[in-house]
Amino acid sequence: MSQSKIPRTAVVPAAGLGTRFLPATKTVPKELLPVVDTPGIELVAEEAKSAGAERLLIITSPGKDGVVAHFVQDLVLEHTLAARGKESMLAKVRNAPSLLEVASVIQDQPLGLGHAVGCVETALGDDEDAIAVLLPDDLVLPGGVLSAMARTRAEYGGSVLCAIEVDDEKISAYGVFDVEDADPATPHVKRVKGMVEKPAADEAPSNLAAAGRYILDRKIFDALREITTGAGGELQLTDAIALLIEKGEPVHVVVHHGTRHDLGNPGGYLKAAVDFALDRDDYGPELRAWLRERLDQ
Ligand code: G1P
Repeated sequence: MSQSKIPRTAVVPAAGLGTRFLPATKTVPKELLPVVDTPGIELVAEEAKSAGAERLLIITSPGKDGVVAHFVQDLVLEHTLAARGKESMLAKVRNAPSLLEVASVIQDQPLGLGHAVGCVETALGDDEDAIAVLLPDDLVLPGGVLSAMARTRAEYGGSVLCAIEVDDEKISAYGVFDVEDADPATPHVKRVKGMVEKPAADEAPSNLAAAGRYILDRKIFDALREITTGAGGELQLTDAIALLIEKGEPVHVVVHHGTRHDLGNPGGYLKAAVDFALDRDDYGPELRAWLRERLDQ
């Protein structure tokens, strides 16, 4: 199997208001809320790095400077930890700044995910023919789906997304794919014939939903200029992808069968935190015992 890498730039949209997490997100960006002790956006940056990205391009909004600051070295803090012999903490605070080159662009108005992604075009090099986009609300586990998507782009060209199976009751919260088989030898890869953002359950073309991981051909920027306001009154990335398909551009999905957590709402965030904590040697055993006791009450 070839070792395809995702595109050099991994774009992370982090400009949202985090309204589902108020009041916590009044002053703390949602992307910095800890999954155990590590901000969700750091986990996503680690995923991008392991798939071969070189640069993290964070889309932020006025007043959310803390998101980018998390990836900047804090020499005073590092010095203090080193002086106190806190080596394991030192390694933890050094992790985020050491992962990838970091840059940011500002989305100055909350006009939707499509508009946000459109803001990064001028920050790309002329030689970059595609971008990866990772939504920090989505944790897709185990890792590896981005690499499978890169292999799919190497084979078919165009754009490649990650799909997960979602029940009928929840499908209207997602971008939903209309698909057909691509090659019987790789049943987890499907060709996308159409895509619709947040359809009513009875109008959803399938149960395959977009899970916040995209490899987008640079042609996406032309499509983003053409779309008009869509679901929720926002400029939707899904609508630009649907337009690429209409124009005959190849779009495929890799169907992911592992875990996916939605950090974008308190319920999903709690599940992610518990899931991660149970796997940790430092917190797992005690939490497991306490949960058992608590659930028996
Ligand atoms: C966004 C996308 C949607 C995708 C979802 C995955 O929606 O617009 O297509 O399925 O992320 O989490 P949001 O959750 O921001 O409403």
